Amino acid sequence: MSNKFVIILGLIFFVAVLGEGARSRVAIRNRQDKRAPCSNSTHPGNKMAPCSQSNETDASPESLNIIPCMKRMRTLSNIDSIVIPGCSKYPCLFKRGDSSKIQVAFTPLYRIRAMQLSIAGIIQGSSVDFPLDDQNHCQTSVVELASQNATRCALNRNTQYNYEFSLPILKSYPPMPLNVRYEVKQFGRSLFCFLLPIRIV
Ligand SMILES: *[C@@H]1O[C@H](CO)[C@@H](O)[C@H](O)[C@H]1NC(C)=O
Ligand SMILES: *[C@@H]1O[C@H](CO)[C@@H](O)[C@H](O)[C@H]1NC(C)=O
Ligand SMILES: *[C@@H]1O[C@H](CO)[C@@H](O)[C@H](O)[C@H]1NC(C)=O
Repeated sequence: MSNKFVIILGLIFFVAVLGEGARSRVAIRNRQDKRAPCSNSTHPGNKMAPCSQSNETDASPESLNIIPCMKRMRTLSNIDSIVIPGCSKYPCLFKRGDSSKIQVAFTPLYRIRAMQLSIAGIIQGSSVDFPLDDQNHCQTSVVELASQNATRCALNRNTQYNYEFSLPILKSYPPMPLNVRYEVKQFGRSLFCFLLPIRIV
């Protein structure tokens, strides 16, 4: 009898842990992906898996888990790391009246000639666009171009670039937790896209 009890209790506990773990499952998968080596040839399937040639965990302890917008989403680049200064784990706290810096290291799989930014908050299943000015987004947000005052966008394939954008968090935003869908596109095709669990405070 008591043995059965123990087994049932064990099962309940197991299910509870599974439920708890559901949200972090993506995170765990990403942590495993992070160890995947970069492939020289064309990236088959391009799953936005982060790839690193060195032991990245030592090099960038602040790198957040990468949560792709969709499973098996085809994108024009791979994300290598996402860093938000001041945030080591989700949800990141975004303070109203401040700007939050978003830094992405990415490696294009094709030559890139333009970038458009699209950010939405996912609130109770519906998507609300953030109003943004993304004029010349590529030249102003790719650090390698901005530091040279580049006048046009030209990114080579299989070369890692650093992207940085300061997202203004308006005072008018209500304080609440939400998922941010952060996407950079080239002419409608996704260059990279990730979800960012945040809390507006
Ligand atoms: C990448 O290319 C180099 C030289 O062509 C080769 O030695 C190395 O094994 C390749 N690495 C992978 C992951 O394919
Ligand atoms: C990781 O990087 C550190 C510093 O660059 C180096 O000393 C160490 O040997 C590396 N470890 C592995 C397993 O590559
Ligand atoms: C870019 O522009 C800034 C401000 O106009 C200037 O200080 C800087 O020297 C320029 N950098 C390069 C690499 O031309």
